[in-house]
Amino acid sequence: MCGITGYIGERNAYPIVINGLKRLEYRGYDSAGIMMYDGSEMNLSKTKGKVSDLEVITNNDESRKKGKIGIGHTRWATHGVPNNVNSHPHFSQSGNLVIVHNGIIENYDTIRKELISRGYEFQSDTDTEVLVNLIEEVKRKEGCKLGKAVQLALTNVIGAYAIAVFDKTKPNELVVARLGSPIAIGVGENNEEFFVASDASPFIEFTKDAVYLEDGELAIIKKGRGIRVRKIDNDKPVDAKIQELKLNLDQIEKGGYDHFMLKEIYEQPKAITDTFRGRMLANEGIIRMAGIDDNISKFLNADRIIVIACGTSWHAGLVGEYLLEDMARIPVEVEYASEFRYRNPIITPKDVVIAISQSGETADTLAAIKLAKSKGAFVFGICNVVGSSIARETHAGAYTHAGPEIGVASTKAFTTQITILSLISLKLAQAKGTLSKTAVNKYLQTMQQIPNQVENLLKIDKEVQEIAYHYKDATNCLYLGRGFNFPVALEGALKLKEISYIHAEGYPAAEMKHGPIALIDENMPVFVIATRKGHYEKVVSNIQEIKSRSGKIIAIVTEGDETVKEIADHVIEIPETEEAFTPLLTTIPFQLLSYHIAVMLGKNVDQPRNLAKSVTVE
Ligand code: F6R
Repeated sequence: MCGITGYIGERNAYPIVINGLKRLEYRGYDSAGIMMYDGSEMNLSKTKGKVSDLEVITNNDESRKKGKIGIGHTRWATHGVPNNVNSHPHFSQSGNLVIVHNGIIENYDTIRKELISRGYEFQSDTDTEVLVNLIEEVKRKEGCKLGKAVQLALTNVIGAYAIAVFDKTKPNELVVARLGSPIAIGVGENNEEFFVASDASPFIEFTKDAVYLEDGELAIIKKGRGIRVRKIDNDKPVDAKIQELKLNLDQIEKGGYDHFMLKEIYEQPKAITDTFRGRMLANEGIIRMAGIDDNISKFLNADRIIVIACGTSWHAGLVGEYLLEDMARIPVEVEYASEFRYRNPIITPKDVVIAISQSGETADTLAAIKLAKSKGAFVFGICNVVGSSIARETHAGAYTHAGPEIGVASTKAFTTQITILSLISLKLAQAKGTLSKTAVNKYLQTMQQIPNQVENLLKIDKEVQEIAYHYKDATNCLYLGRGFNFPVALEGALKLKEISYIHAEGYPAAEMKHGPIALIDENMPVFVIATRKGHYEKVVSNIQEIKSRSGKIIAIVTEGDETVKEIADHVIEIPETEEAFTPLLTTIPFQLLSYHIAVMLGKNVDQPRNLAKSVTVE
């Protein structure tokens, strides 16, 4: 969380840094700041609020925009409330050094006390101001250059960071470093300019050449000279490998939609198709996935599969459990990464771990992967962001290829994760012989129709909007589903609460009678998934139970359903498919519904309060 960006070169740095911050705002948006170095002075502008609030300050005073070197920050608060003082960048006490930081310095309090005893004073409550002063203190004591001082300071730090530091006494260089939080360096032609950012989106229109730092690496970037990378702990030089970026500008802009979330909901037919691409020859019954093919024996000999993930990705993992157990007959456990990493789990080299993460940067998932690896498990990653930390940390994996997901509420990441999990389940079922050739072929052919079916389903948008209007003022909602659609109920509830702030709970439909039924009255909207093959009669009985307690029922049914239509207040139809693939369809109306309710309530759909897209802290 938090986005950092920077520029050093011959252009005016301001538009590059400020536009970069707008692209990184999905990472955190409670405060924003920028430091511009005009050749003699460092000009600092920062404020609580969004990048647009920062622009109000800079637009009032053109001198704040001057210079060919700049660093910027968009914040998701960890230490210290969001206010002007706690916003980044932070100066050191002498005013010579300035820093932007994404992450958490866990031992900041001890360092702070030590620095106070040496005469340092602090303006803010942040761990970041402690770090920049620690760097200053090391530089003073050791009489070394900035790069060395940053390196030595970081060896005293416990926590996670991606930082960019500038020293006005050495104005031709920037120092960046990472541990646990991502950082990319864009390389301009002939090393004449460099860009720094939490991901490559801020500099995509300027260069396609990028260096991604690995954990524990520090880079000294010198204008006109190049990048020197070294290990923080042992000072060993590292080759700065330049990667070619595949991202383009269109992919990270709204493309005519009011919000990124809506754009991303509508992108799902293409995103799912891109996930299949090159992996599935439905007519020949062939599934090709290099990460599985190359490691098939690990999967076939596994005692069990453990899925680790957080949030929406955890919900996709739950669908994966149903798919893998049903099709490939391998026992599966699905774990919250945050619980798994701290509960001394039993993991053996006979376990296969599947880690799922859209961003590929989630701190808890990353830590859980490292733990599983240390116990000898084979770890397979499912990530969306190419080259992300999780993609690099896992032994093998598969990208979802959904394209950038900017809206904080995850949509296309969820459906493409389920698509990958469906392919893996079928592939393993094929290899194990737990499904016949005919059955696999039938599944593949059915799956091939999903993108078109999603495309058609999106046409119900107006209908869903009307339903949203009926329930926008609800204060509590219940979401029910069974089997493959139980995780969709959880995901539906999560989508609603995170962007509309309406309290919502997801439950397995049959669990309703063990507690939540007490909540049902005429004010309680209940969203129920009642697809034809999914324990249909039992879910219909649950719907009757809600009806007889005056609850409002909004049901998702298979097209042509007549029974539920007679009981429910509203019905949304999805096309017929295999029950195993219904989550790819039933989730669409829930995404649209949450979106419209949030818009009607005037909420910030793409940047809901307190959330961030990439959770790189515990
Ligand atoms: C919800 C949402 C979060 C993420 C979670 C994990 O809409 O986006 O719950 O799913 O923070 O993030 P990733 O998948 O990036 O590891």
